[in-house]
Amino acid sequence: MQPARNFTVVVLISGRGSNCQSLIRQAEDYSIIGVLSNNVDAPGLKYAREAGIEAIAFDRKTAGSLVQQKQQIYSHIEAVAPSLIVLAGYMQILESDFVERFEGKIVNIHPSLLPRFKGLDTHKRALQAFHQAGVSAEAKHGCTVHYVDWGVDSGPIIAQARCRIMPSDGEETLAARVLDLEHRLFPWVVNAIAANDIAYRDRQAIFSPKVIAEAKDNGFLLPERSPVMQPG
Ligand code: GAR
Repeated sequence: MQPARNFTVVVLISGRGSNCQSLIRQAEDYSIIGVLSNNVDAPGLKYAREAGIEAIAFDRKTAGSLVQQKQQIYSHIEAVAPSLIVLAGYMQILESDFVERFEGKIVNIHPSLLPRFKGLDTHKRALQAFHQAGVSAEAKHGCTVHYVDWGVDSGPIIAQARCRIMPSDGEETLAARVLDLEHRLFPWVVNAIAANDIAYRDRQAIFSPKVIAEAKDNGFLLPERSPVMQPG
């Protein structure tokens, strides 16, 4: 059971839920008050329940349609009014009016160095680019945490973690290396948002001096010329 904290998080998943697990394990400044899924068979729901967190699957068939399923998910989130909505492998597009209502309060993790490789099959596409370009410009891959806006895998970037692509890499080895990074980067970002060391201002992320130093220590990248929070 996690201790109650004022900063509340709802995590949305669609499948395996390994990022959700790392968010549960590494919660320091936030409480996860619910894990929601658009997929009744999402394995990630089980781990959340075992951790004592309410985990709810919204079944499209029971709801009657995709529109109604989405509506049920949105109504639930609005009723619990979390401080932050965290998309951790959530593979359903959010409606723009919902995104607008929660502007600056939805974050997503994506397995590439955005803006490169939006969408699906990111590791495959990164490997293809690597083999086409040789071991130069395309030698890096990684993951990105960003605020969610009206596009797909767009929205202001918060932080990225990078790794090398090795000539011997296949999709599986590369995906595993990136997933390790995801499991470090995502809880770090969510803890920092909860601690008010990262905030959303004027459609971009701003950072406290503390978090800028931590990012450097961890080898995480923040957007170039990131605005810095003023003390007080
Ligand atoms: C993660 O790699 C995440 O970055 C990706 O889905 C995977 C979910 O794994 N998300 C996206 O591609 C979103 N565009 P998990 O269920 O084990 O956390």
